Amino acid sequence: PEQKAWSQRFESALHPVINRFNASIHFDMELIEYDLTGSIAHAKMLAHTGIIKVLEAEQLISGLEQIRQEYRQGNFKPGIESEDVHFAVEYRLVEIVGDVGKQLHTARSRNDQVGTDIRLYLREQIQQIRQQLRSLQTVLTNIAEDNLETLIPGYTHLQRAQPLSLAHHFLAYFHMIQRDWERLKDVYTRTNISPLGCGALAGTTFPINCHYSANLLDFDDVYQNSLDGVSDRDFVVEFLCAASLIMVHLSRLSEEIILWASDEFKFVTLKDRCATGSSIMPQKKNPDVPELVRGKTGRVFGHLQAMLVVMKGLPLAYNKDLQEDKECLFDGVITVKSCLEAMTILLQEGLEFRHERLNTAVLEDFSNATDVADYLATKGVPFREAYSLVGKAVKNSIAAGKLLKDLTIEEWKELHPGFAEDIYEAISPRQVVSARNSHGGTGFTQIKQAIIKIRQQLATS
Ligand code: ARG
Repeated sequence: PEQKAWSQRFESALHPVINRFNASIHFDMELIEYDLTGSIAHAKMLAHTGIIKVLEAEQLISGLEQIRQEYRQGNFKPGIESEDVHFAVEYRLVEIVGDVGKQLHTARSRNDQVGTDIRLYLREQIQQIRQQLRSLQTVLTNIAEDNLETLIPGYTHLQRAQPLSLAHHFLAYFHMIQRDWERLKDVYTRTNISPLGCGALAGTTFPINCHYSANLLDFDDVYQNSLDGVSDRDFVVEFLCAASLIMVHLSRLSEEIILWASDEFKFVTLKDRCATGSSIMPQKKNPDVPELVRGKTGRVFGHLQAMLVVMKGLPLAYNKDLQEDKECLFDGVITVKSCLEAMTILLQEGLEFRHERLNTAVLEDFSNATDVADYLATKGVPFREAYSLVGKAVKNSIAAGKLLKDLTIEEWKELHPGFAEDIYEAISPRQVVSARNSHGGTGFTQIKQAIIKIRQQLATS
């Protein structure tokens, strides 16, 4: 356009730097398909209510569809002079269909328009991310199923605590991701509400039917208050919060994989397809994928924080500050999607568990100490007393350079007469894991049941 839509109100043209500063076209073109879809629904509503003629609506719609074709073919590239995607579409529409194009913005503002676009965009992204979460859950469950009998040291404070089934460890992540999946479902319900018809802030003088356009766009509901409708970005904050928690979960898993791949742990080997090398150290094989996921987590948290700060001081209703929602949201979406994708591939085909090393690791520590205390407690020794006795045994064993499994039966009996030969079986790692058969525990029976339940859950939702 040679002139802005609003140029008649002004004496002079915009300062070129301010023009650039004000524009959002360089990032909000991401919304163009949704903007076109929203405009088509608006045009249909205008015809349906008799605000414009059916023939006029048809011209608008064919012009909008032509823009869609042009865009998809790479032939619609509006520049900074168009300010934002909404004006870019409107200017092009008038070029294509002539003066009738100037009817499109009847009973609408860019404020309810952009609110509509961003919701249409986000609800689609939410569904895609939920699909990705499901794929990740399937991979986590497969790993669990393949590793029911693989043992791994369990840690608290990153100190050896009690041995676990590796399956139990991965199913913990399954459940975290399940909450993410449910959270996004919930965010979706508050995203899928139409603000179209709220106008600039106060509604409109035209006899519109906002339910009609909402219905065409598959929104579940419409806003009950126009001021709220045009200025609400709670759903963006909620999405970024849900995305942040997804990143927390991916980052924790990343941290573990990075540790496991180190020479200190040696629990996994990274397969070549998912690992990277060094420019100077010839021997290196680096876990760049989980490191990047851990690193990108900060960006998503940053976007959440940025959105909260954008919102906190805003008087009703629309303020240009809200234009800042887009880069936060778009980058949040791209980041979480790329991390889910990479992480799923890494888990599916990038890790080789070192079963030998995992199963022997649990033999070389005192992580069966609780089980010795439990053993005595079942023989009638009050738990706290049993615990103290075993603490002493641990201290003496460390001094003697032994493990609990190396104590002779005489040494056990000296510690407490209640010990018998079956103590050796009771403290073997496999038995230690197997015995934790309480609900949600690492016992093999528990995990088998958990996997059956999870498989059903994945099949039915
Ligand atoms: N580009 C603007 C945004 O992203 C569109 C809405 C502009 N509305 C206005 N009253 N200036 O928020």
